[in-house]
Amino acid sequence: MNKSELIEKINTLRKEKNAIILAHYYQESDIQDIADFVGDSLALAQWATKTTADIIVLCGVHFMGETAKILSPEKRVFIPDMMAGCSLADSCPADEFEEFTKAHPDHTVISYVNTTAAVKALTDIVVTSTNAKQIVESFPEDEKIIFGPDKNLGDYINKLTGRNMLLWEGACHVHEQFSMEKIIELKKQYPDALLLAHPECPKYLLEIADHVGSTSSILKFATKSDKKQFIVATEAGILHQMQKENPDKEFIPAPPEDSTCACNECFYMKMNTLEKLYLCLKNERPEIFVDEEIRIKAVKPIERMLEISARYGL
Ligand code: 13P
Ligand code: SF4
Repeated sequence: MNKSELIEKINTLRKEKNAIILAHYYQESDIQDIADFVGDSLALAQWATKTTADIIVLCGVHFMGETAKILSPEKRVFIPDMMAGCSLADSCPADEFEEFTKAHPDHTVISYVNTTAAVKALTDIVVTSTNAKQIVESFPEDEKIIFGPDKNLGDYINKLTGRNMLLWEGACHVHEQFSMEKIIELKKQYPDALLLAHPECPKYLLEIADHVGSTSSILKFATKSDKKQFIVATEAGILHQMQKENPDKEFIPAPPEDSTCACNECFYMKMNTLEKLYLCLKNERPEIFVDEEIRIKAVKPIERMLEISARYGL
């Protein structure tokens, strides 16, 4: 089937089945273009609570589908490829995280949304990179906090807030592998370009960035800026919306180490394709299921996050 046939079939199926297609900014361009909504991980969770669709097809990775299902258990949630995982979520197995929290029983547990439902069930409040600063600051200054699993985001929030949160040693393989040497080369080649970085990047990169923020924050910053060139240190899928919203500006993907490719892609995010999206709508699988006991525990810290985000207009 060619691309226009696939698009036509997807459009027919989503109408017939009252399905909504939600896509993360790291999805391939064709998926972003066909989605009802494209957003960051906070916005995808918010959409899952407000849609009246019977079916959510979450074009993103597994934890995003799981979050949608936890928030909307009455809806059926599908992801185009069940193998679309996340190295950051994998760096935090629930049993080991539980031991860590038990070793510090007087600590409040804050978890990044890039975690499994089982880890969220051990958590007091979930954050995304859009709301992490505000949520950490909503606790008293002397609150003892465990922050997991991203050590780079945790370290960055510690610096921003002056806190001393205990960090889990997890990281994302995509954001860890940007090449500082190649970025410095790009900065020489494009002396007027601003460097935009996701807080999952290592400290040494965040320290030289002109703006640090979530995917939606990076997009917003570039759109508002009167500068014309930007070096973008996050997964390269975001460049599609940046270019779409700013056709007069130039976006240069920050390159990874050890690669002949100029941009850095998340292998998991790119497992989803237009064809798999079509098959997923047609066959109604793969479907996300969450154990009800875990869901009941995991929904509380996510809802708490949504409440605080709404207070800040996020
Ligand atoms: P955002 O919440 O900024 O979209 O980040 C999601 C993610 O997986 C980053 O790697
Ligand atoms: Fe996970 Fe990193 Fe991929 Fe984001 S980019 S989904 S954190 S592996």
